Amino acid sequence: GAGPLQDGHGRRISYLRLSLTDRCDFRCTYCMAEDMTFLPRHQVMSLEESLRLSRLFVGLGVTKLRITGGEPLVRRDALWLLERLAALEGLKELVLTTNGSQLERFAAPLARAGVQRLNISLDSLRPERFRAITRIGDLHQVLRGIAAAQAAGFRRIKLNTVMMRGTNDDELADLVAYCMAEGLDIAFIEEMPLGDLGHGRSGTYFSSDEALLRLQERFPLQASDESSGGPARYWRIAGSETRVGFISPHSHNFCDTCNRVRVTATGELYPCLGQNDATPLLPLLRRHPEDDEPARQAILRTLGMKALGHDFTRQLDAPQVVRFMSATGG
Ligand code: GTP
Ligand code: 5AD
Ligand code: SF4
Repeated sequence: GAGPLQDGHGRRISYLRLSLTDRCDFRCTYCMAEDMTFLPRHQVMSLEESLRLSRLFVGLGVTKLRITGGEPLVRRDALWLLERLAALEGLKELVLTTNGSQLERFAAPLARAGVQRLNISLDSLRPERFRAITRIGDLHQVLRGIAAAQAAGFRRIKLNTVMMRGTNDDELADLVAYCMAEGLDIAFIEEMPLGDLGHGRSGTYFSSDEALLRLQERFPLQASDESSGGPARYWRIAGSETRVGFISPHSHNFCDTCNRVRVTATGELYPCLGQNDATPLLPLLRRHPEDDEPARQAILRTLGMKALGHDFTRQLDAPQVVRFMSATGG
C-alpha cells in the first residue's frame, strides 16, 4: 500500500464510488428522462476491469469503496465482483447504494459476499406516489427488500430521500417516523441539476433548512457532529437510534472536506460529481493488459486537477452538468 492519496488542494482521497452499470429497473423522474437510452455493452467495463481498477485505487490508498449504478444489482454477476472486492487487502469498507428493488433476493448473498452497509433510495411511503416518482417501481417490493436486508443482518441501513416540493415534501416526517420504527437512518437530499430531463427543477427545489424546520415541529432533533466523512450533516432524535442527515449541495456546500472520486461504468474517472471533467481510464487498461502504470499515472494526474468544488447554483432550470446522475452513480 502507498501513503494517503491527496488531491491538488491537499484533501485526502480515501473513498472511491464505483458504478457497475448505467442501467436501472426504475426511471425516477429526477434522475432519468422517460425515454432513457442506455450505453451499448462494449463501452461498459467488464467486471474483471472493474476489479483491476479497484485494486489499483486500493493500492494507492483508497480504503472505502461504494458500489453504485444506475442500479448495481441489475448487473449480472455483481456478487462475483463484490466477493473479490471484499477480499482486497487494505480495503476497510465495502458498501453499496441501491434502489432496493432486488434486495429480497440479494440481501443475504450481499452480506455473505462481504458488503458491510447499504444505502437504499426511498422517496415515498405511499404506493401510488412511489410509482409516480419511479415511473415503474413497486413500493411493497422495496419495503420487503428493506426487511430482507435487516433479516440478513445489515445494521445502520441508511435511506436516501430526494426532497421535491409538491411531490413528497409533505411526507418527510412520515419517513422519519418509519425509520424510527424500523431502526433505520435517513438522509434528505437537495436535488442536483444533473442531466437534461426536458423540464426545469426550480419549481420542486426544497431546501434542507426548510425540511429541518418542519421536522423540528414533530421530533426533538439534536445537532450531532458525527459524520461518515460524507456530505451529510447529521441530527439525532432524543431517545431514538435514528440519525437524520441532510445532503445540501445548494445550501451548505461540503466540498472543502471532499474525500471522494468516482469511476463510471465506462471507466471514466470523475474527480468531482458537479464538474464535467473526466479521464477515460478504460482505454489505458485495454491498451496495457499487463501494465497498470499508465492507468496509475492517469489517476494521480486527474487527482492533481480535482476541482475545488461544484458550481451548482440555484439556477435549477438548466442542467449544469450534462450527464445524468445514473451515468456517474452520484
Ligand atoms: P457515505 O458518505 O458513503 O455514507 O454515503 P453517501 O450518502 O455519500 O452516498 P449515497 O450513494 O447514499 O448518496 C447520497 C447522495 O449524496 C446522492 O444524491 C449522491 O449523489 C450525493 N453525493 C455523494 N457524493 C457526493 C459529492 O461528492 N458531491 C455531491 N454534490 N453529492 C454527493
Ligand atoms: N439530485 C440528488 N440526488 C439524486 N439521486 C439521483 N438523482 C439525483 C439528483 N438529480 C439520488 C438517488 C439515490 C442517490 C444515489 O442519488 O435518489 O438515492
Ligand atoms: Fe434508478 Fe436510482 Fe436513478 Fe431512480 S435514482 S432511476 S433508482 S438510478
